[in-house]
Amino acid sequence: MSSKNCILVTGASGRTGRAVIAALHNKGAYSRAFIRREEVADELKKIGADEIALGDLFDDASLAAAVTGCDQVIHICPPMSPEEATLAKKMTDLCLAKGVRRLVLYSVLHPILSDVRHHHLKLQAEEYLVNSSQVYTILQPGRYMQHHVPIWKEIMETGLHRMPFSADPKFSIVDLADLAEAASIILTEDGHEAATYQLAGPDPLSQHDMARIISEVMGKTIKAEAKPLEEFRAGAEKAGMPADRIEQLCIMNGHYDKHGLVGNSNVLSWILGRAPADFATYIKRDFA
Ligand SMILES: NC(=O)c1ccc[n+]([C@@H]2O[C@H](COP(=O)([O-])OP(=O)(O)OC[C@H]3O[C@@H](n4cnc5c(N)ncnc54)[C@H](OP(=O)(O)O)[C@@H]3O)[C@@H](O)[C@H]2O)c1
Repeated sequence: MSSKNCILVTGASGRTGRAVIAALHNKGAYSRAFIRREEVADELKKIGADEIALGDLFDDASLAAAVTGCDQVIHICPPMSPEEATLAKKMTDLCLAKGVRRLVLYSVLHPILSDVRHHHLKLQAEEYLVNSSQVYTILQPGRYMQHHVPIWKEIMETGLHRMPFSADPKFSIVDLADLAEAASIILTEDGHEAATYQLAGPDPLSQHDMARIISEVMGKTIKAEAKPLEEFRAGAEKAGMPADRIEQLCIMNGHYDKHGLVGNSNVLSWILGRAPADFATYIKRDFA
């Protein structure tokens, strides 16, 4: 594809953005990475970004310049932003004003969860987009398997799988590599206009299930237990996480503690043309 099919990726330097840029590159698509720190430009070019747009989501002029000339935009908002709905509405209006052919909104599994703020804000973002005349696709990804990256060392050292919610509720955790591939397919193929896709992993797993699978793959006994929320809060404060983000993570983990986060993987299988990676495959690929 050429620059006339340019796809703008916001949140490009983040975990999701980098995976999407790489997946678009694998598909031969032409991407423009929206970044706010010039020093990551070379890294993004190495991953596969064809162009860099330097700016800030809160700086309207830089955002408008980044959208100008793009055929499509995939908007990946910074996680837990209190301004998520405002930013998505601004992006929708900008895409309409600049004649962008399609806006792909990176939302979340079950935005209907009104007690979890970022789900609720993503629902508002979806509603605004659906009611606009902008052509769109909405992606609703489940919790990433990649949440194991920051706790892997601790799991191996202590033999304990500890996330800050009960070890019993289930999660349809999903491989970010599959999500990025699905996004790249949706952005490079026709026929996904006006669609809202739930993108969940193949097996609903509790922390007990995850610990059992890690034990089997690694040949080492791992047990699961809930990390107390206050311990999580103290660790996040010590690490310097902003207070609002800590609060929202605690609310989210409180929701997970009661309900987990379960979805269905049929749509992801259909988009990928294969079964999404299961948890054992992810652990073998990234850690074993
Ligand atoms: N994690 C999950 O399990 C999960 C599941 C479903 C959906 N999601 C959604 O996925 C999205 C991305 O999450 P992530 O984990 O990939 O996030 P991330 O790694 O924290 O990346 C956030 C990105 O946003 C950029 N950013 C922050 N503030 C900005 C600003 N003012 N202007 C321009 N760019 C700014 C960051 O740039 P810097 O590098 O400069 O900081 C970074 O590139 C979130 O909306 C989240 O809700 C996540």
